Amino acid sequence: MWYNTKATQLLGIDYPIFQGPFGGNLSSVALVASVSNAGGLGGYGAYTMSPQEIYDIDRQIKAATPKPYNLNLWVSDTDAPASDEQYDKTRQAFSPYFSELGIPFPEKPQPFHSRFEDQLQVILDIRPKVFSFMFGTLPPDVLEQCRRLGIKTIGAATTLDEAIALENSGVDMIIASGFEAGGHRPSFLDAAEASTIGTFVLLQLIREKVKVPVIAAGGIASGRGIAAALALGADAVQVGTAFLACDESNALPIHKQMLFSDEAKYTTLSRAFTGRLGRGITSRIARELRGNEAAILPFPLQSTLMSSLRKAALDQQKWDMILFWGGQIAPLLKHKSVHTLMQSLIEETTAYFSKV
Ligand SMILES: Cc1cc2nc3c(=O)[nH]c(=O)nc-3n(C[C@H](O)[C@H](O)[C@H](O)COP(=O)(O)O)c2cc1C
Repeated sequence: MWYNTKATQLLGIDYPIFQGPFGGNLSSVALVASVSNAGGLGGYGAYTMSPQEIYDIDRQIKAATPKPYNLNLWVSDTDAPASDEQYDKTRQAFSPYFSELGIPFPEKPQPFHSRFEDQLQVILDIRPKVFSFMFGTLPPDVLEQCRRLGIKTIGAATTLDEAIALENSGVDMIIASGFEAGGHRPSFLDAAEASTIGTFVLLQLIREKVKVPVIAAGGIASGRGIAAALALGADAVQVGTAFLACDESNALPIHKQMLFSDEAKYTTLSRAFTGRLGRGITSRIARELRGNEAAILPFPLQSTLMSSLRKAALDQQKWDMILFWGGQIAPLLKHKSVHTLMQSLIEETTAYFSKV
């Protein structure tokens, strides 16, 4: 059967359908548990959380599902500090938007101290069945430690070189993260702008060169998409945008509404909202700042800078000043609950393979 793959065997799940973890408070216990209980692999994005918050969420997930699930972190969660000169450029480019909303331009954000090491310790304590990460590799001894503890590890690649680096470090599985995907580009060897390969090309390149199971992510939201990925050698798919739009996700109602609207036909890769390149529904700020990367602070300082603007724009319903994360497949979304989405993904893929 199509759903019996190396990935499902390795994880002990029914279907090779992973729910993409969402960072920045967009994941929810209900989402993870519903997907895992339906036979897929739910995932929780925890990179913004403190160690205690991760412990607490993990307890809640365990209470909501007896099935395997995935906890996700960012291996690299901070870029270079910002210089005063950089901050001045940012002020020049962004202060008109703050003025338009009637709020002050923020002080220069304080340097950010990485939380990853502490978060990683929690993962080793909790021992989730699956630990996925993005924005880099982990040292082989850490991956070996995960293996000894029974934690399956998954790294994300946006190029073949990154996939090879991940395999050499000793991960159990690799995500082929195509540029269609919603959210951040998890590139770590070359600039994200130079690592924009489509899912189905990237999947085939990686399949050819690496031995571990490969998970196709980016632009998959239907059974046909799953069938195509499996036909090209994927051992599973990771679906993000379609789950983000479901009632169970923690995205704001307006965010879900936007994903189902005509606006979703246009998405952009932009650094303007966090400092790292990510795909969302094209907004005025993303459009106007295209090509003006020098005006953007490093991650996560740009996020910190933009947080008051985001809040004011939400309060004033200025949707064109917010980047609502989402991938290129959004115009094809149909389902508003995990139950109907999972059912349709499974039925459509089964119907497709029963004809072949
Ligand atoms: C809002 C949003 C946040 C995301 N956050 C993370 C994250 O923190 N960690 C991660 O590994 N992937 C993250 N992703 C990527 C997804 O897990 C998934 O790989 C991707 O959405 C698949 O592409 P699709 O959106 O075309 O379905 C995020 C995606 C979105 C849309």
